[in-house]
Amino acid sequence: MKLSFAERMFVNSPIRGLSLRFVEPRIFDNLAPFPRGAHVLDLGCGNGTGLVALARNHAPASLTGIDEDPAQIALARTRLEKSGVTARLIEANAEKITLPAHTYDVITCTGCLHHVPKWKSALAEVARLLRHGGLLYMFEIYPPLTAFISLFAAHPKNSFTHKSLVEELPRHGLTILGQRNLFNLAGFVVARRTGNSNLYD
Ligand SMILES: C[S@@+](CC[C@H](N)C(=O)[O-])C[C@H]1O[C@@H](n2cnc3c(N)ncnc32)[C@H](O)[C@@H]1O
Repeated sequence: MKLSFAERMFVNSPIRGLSLRFVEPRIFDNLAPFPRGAHVLDLGCGNGTGLVALARNHAPASLTGIDEDPAQIALARTRLEKSGVTARLIEANAEKITLPAHTYDVITCTGCLHHVPKWKSALAEVARLLRHGGLLYMFEIYPPLTAFISLFAAHPKNSFTHKSLVEELPRHGLTILGQRNLFNLAGFVVARRTGNSNLYD
């Protein structure tokens, strides 16, 4: 789902950038150390701030960013060029990604999944794209925060809670390694691709 004007202003603001660069990496690392030299996909990469932070913090073997919004992809391309960071950028819907299975060691997904109407399909895609043993790092916001933001920005009505998210992940062969639920408003989850995903193994 495309970003509204207000949300676009927020996600492209310095405040969001500071959090992506300095706050979220530390929380993720505390939940499960982020591997160096990995093939990394940032799903819903937005303006590329997360991609640059990933490059600086974790020396990935390769970096890919996916976003369905061409305007955000264009911002990401400019940011990567200015930062001297190499990444493949793909305009695609998280619900159906035409990349081969078992391509990535790590997938990051911050603030994207609550925009996706078929969020369970997006999780199935994450499971399909991860190598066995690969890691998923997620940051998400939940109702009532999404309900509040919906007053001025469109979001799917079928958004999930922290509980329903952590219950859904194992159904896709994603075993939770660590999680932080921030008062049911937002949360961090790290999961490992372990068991079978019914759809894709
Ligand atoms: C709130 S922004 C978060 C951007 C960045 N990851 C961050 O943490 O600041 C959500 C991003 O997900 C993208 N997005 C929304 N729905 C999507 C979908 N179905 N497939 C791919 N990207 C999507 C939006 O275009 C936007 O760039």
